[in-house]
Amino acid sequence: MDACIFYVLFSSMFLTTKAFESICPIVKCSHGGPDIRFPFRVVGQQPQHCGHPGFELFCKENTTMIHFPTYGPLVVKSISYDIRKLSLLDPKNCVHEVFLNLNLSGTPFQYYYLLKNFTYLNCSTRLSPSFDEVSCLSGSRHHVYTVESSLPTPVSCRPLKTIPIPFSYSSYLADNSFGLGLTWSLPGCEDCEAKGGSCVLPSKAGLKAGCLGIEHDKGFSIVHLLSSGTGSIILNILLCVFVVTTLIRIKIYFRQRMKVDEEAENENLL
Ligand SMILES: *[C@@H]1O[C@H](CO)[C@@H](O)[C@H](O)[C@H]1NC(C)=O
Ligand SMILES: *[C@@H]1O[C@H](CO)[C@@H](O)[C@H](O)[C@H]1NC(C)=O
Ligand SMILES: *[C@@H]1O[C@H](CO)[C@@H](O)[C@H](O)[C@H]1NC(C)=O
Ligand SMILES: *[C@@H]1O[C@H](CO)[C@@H](O)[C@H](O)[C@H]1NC(C)=O
Repeated sequence: MDACIFYVLFSSMFLTTKAFESICPIVKCSHGGPDIRFPFRVVGQQPQHCGHPGFELFCKENTTMIHFPTYGPLVVKSISYDIRKLSLLDPKNCVHEVFLNLNLSGTPFQYYYLLKNFTYLNCSTRLSPSFDEVSCLSGSRHHVYTVESSLPTPVSCRPLKTIPIPFSYSSYLADNSFGLGLTWSLPGCEDCEAKGGSCVLPSKAGLKAGCLGIEHDKGFSIVHLLSSGTGSIILNILLCVFVVTTLIRIKIYFRQRMKVDEEAENENLL
């Protein structure tokens, strides 16, 4: 049994060392800013292995920002790791300009909210108030509207683009009141954090993310147990106990057999 305890302690020491390697410091751009951790990282403040490619953030004047090549910088308002939601704000306060230009293909992100196809119209005259005018894209001589893509184009208008945009933007909501929400997917980490695990890169060299149970502040759960070092320790203990009890059983069996043989011999002698 002593050998068992030694073996378990030794293997748990090894596992803990391995776990520490993948822990990275959590960074914030300002006191009240969102926690930045895997899969995100702040370029220049966290080592490369702390983030996943495509999730690079940067801090500018105490503000957390993300840069999209097809649009430019957007402000990161919050990051919800459990539901995988990134809430953004447009620094130019024109969310429809974001929708018109932002191309998420080639990024790990998708819109968080339900999408519906809408057409942006550029009109030379003002339409009836039942149409939603995009004031930040309109001027004194042109008026930009979003309309359901199935509607016929009014004569004074030129269609700009038909694109899927988050459904709730379509009507009555002013810019930014709804929030620009994105979600992400990482192969190997789907629903990991919602189940209490931690999505990490398993090694500095590996690129595939994995779900681990190393969490510094969360309680104990089955998912934790199964996906973490603790799970292997328990498996190790069970294996060890099984081997030891089997050895003891074999010993007892042979002792009994020897006893029986001795008795048989004694009987023969009598
Ligand atoms: C950023 O925050 C620090 C500490 O709160 C403050 O001293 C500094 O002036 C801020 N910088 C800007 C650009 O807001
Ligand atoms: C987005 O970019 C991809 C290529 O990166 C392109 O095929 C696609 O047409 C673009 N989508 C829009 C709506 O411009
Ligand atoms: C938008 O329209 C395109 C082309 O008609 C279609 O492929 C796409 O599935 C539509 N998207 C949505 C969210 O309805
Ligand atoms: C709408 O049309 C006007 C005049 O043709 C042009 O100046 C403006 O840039 C257009 N707006 C957009 C968003 O394309």
